[in-house]
Amino acid sequence: MIDHSLIKLVHVSCAGLSLLGFTLRAILMLKHSPLLKQQWVRTVPHLVDSTLFFSGLWLAYNLHQYPGTSPWLTAKLLALLAYIVFGAMALRGTTATLRHLSLLLAYLCFAYIVSVALSKTPVPW
Ligand code: HEM
Repeated sequence: MIDHSLIKLVHVSCAGLSLLGFTLRAILMLKHSPLLKQQWVRTVPHLVDSTLFFSGLWLAYNLHQYPGTSPWLTAKLLALLAYIVFGAMALRGTTATLRHLSLLLAYLCFAYIVSVALSKTPVPW
């Protein structure tokens, strides 16, 4: 049985790496860099985000708290969906205004997800 605190460490580390990876790609987007289209630049974040997601599910299973029954996990999952959508639009949106607005909204979603994770309530303010 793998220790809960170890999975939590993996989860929190992947959360940090996800934010770092998103920020680096956002910088490439703002600089109109062709690097953004490189295969590895697109693949590595998927590996990090999948590990983040599955370690989160593992933690939820360990705590017997599930999206749909625990309001904070439901809020976190919905905010994660919004983060994915705004994140994709920030990197691939058709106009600069759409990309910049989506970038801001993606960061707000991420901040909300972390606040919900720390407070374990859907209304952390
Ligand atoms: C962008 C996505 C995510 C971020 C940034 C994130 C961030 C975090 C952070 C920072 C913590 C640690 C909170 C603390 O120190 O008490 C945490 C805990 C947790 N996360 Fe996530 N998370 C994300 C996605 C998910 C997903 C998809 C799930 C599962 C549906 C999930 C389930 C959990 C659970 C159950 C805990 C509590 C662990 C515990 O207190 O022992 N997370 N998350």
